[in-house]
Amino acid sequence: MGKIRIWLPCYYLFMILVLGFSPCVWCAPASKQTPANANANPTAVPVLASFIYGQLANLTKVFHKDITQVLGFCIDDVDAELFEAFNFAKNLEFLNNCFKETKDVTQRLCNAAEMKFYFSSFLETKSTQKANILRPNRNCNLTSWVPGCEPGWSCSVNKNEKVDLKNAKDMPDRTRDYQPCCEGFFCPKGLTCMMPCPLGAYCPRATLNKTNGLCEPYSYQLPPGKVNHTCGAADRWGSETDGGELFCSPGSYCPTTTKKVICSEGNYCRKGSTAPRGKSS
Ligand SMILES: *[C@@H]1O[C@H](CO)[C@@H](O)[C@H](O)[C@H]1NC(C)=O
Ligand SMILES: *[C@@H]1O[C@H](CO)[C@@H](O)[C@H](O)[C@H]1NC(C)=O
Ligand SMILES: *[C@@H]1O[C@H](CO)[C@@H](O)[C@H](O)[C@H]1NC(C)=O
Ligand SMILES: *[C@@H]1O[C@H](CO)[C@@H](O)[C@H](O)[C@H]1NC(C)=O
Repeated sequence: MGKIRIWLPCYYLFMILVLGFSPCVWCAPASKQTPANANANPTAVPVLASFIYGQLANLTKVFHKDITQVLGFCIDDVDAELFEAFNFAKNLEFLNNCFKETKDVTQRLCNAAEMKFYFSSFLETKSTQKANILRPNRNCNLTSWVPGCEPGWSCSVNKNEKVDLKNAKDMPDRTRDYQPCCEGFFCPKGLTCMMPCPLGAYCPRATLNKTNGLCEPYSYQLPPGKVNHTCGAADRWGSETDGGELFCSPGSYCPTTTKKVICSEGNYCRKGSTAPRGKSS
């Protein structure tokens, strides 16, 4: 599972590549909409999980050549790596919980335009450290800053509005019903949508450390003067102290993006592990 470690920084590049320069893949046949009823029916979770995975997998198929050409130095097998990073099918608990909590996950997931907006900030700043500073946009700007714009928080679109996840041009209006970002997802500051954390990352809910005012284990603070605001969940894939990456810490493994287990004796767990390894293997 150590590969994921190498893979993730590449994933940023990959998103820029795919979303930044080739938006048209997202406009291809509109037959695959968000699964209907997914919000109302918790048994539809596997459908949504495979939908999210399917979207990412389809993208790599189309861009396989570009990806291997540009990123071949760090990704041996694009399909396998992607499958490893986003194969939520094995453990759907976090999606299930998110359904229960928000009732409308699909209306909170970032569409292609929002993802592109987020990932292109890496390209502009040429640094993952500054990537959490996003430009003003449709939902979060100088004149309007809803609580869902805060790090670790998200909003929903208008009731009954269906988000076209493949739309790479327009961010939807997403300023209703602010709630903390779900466990297993991250919600950047300056955006009101959620993105799933890849496997090998650890994205639990944050708790306030009253000593330093940080929402731990992340490195954001509560907005000043907003007495009713609380810590949400992850705000990005990484903290500055951790080299911009939010991996399961060494000595533990994370079978899902919401669970961290101490490595048992006789095994070893590298940073970003999803399972322990025997010393002999
Ligand atoms: C992925 O591509 C396959 C075959 O082209 C298609 O059947 C499937 O619906 C696509 N999935 C998504 C989520 O776009
Ligand atoms: C600022 O945010 C508000 C509320 O979401 C939106 O109506 C407005 O169009 C945004 N302004 C800009 C310049 O994007
Ligand atoms: C809170 O932050 C302080 C200062 O950084 C640290 O020493 C302390 O261990 C933290 N508390 C918890 C509960 O993590
Ligand atoms: C904060 O919450 C309390 C209790 O729910 C409420 O009475 C108060 O008006 C809220 N304050 C603000 C600034 O929203």
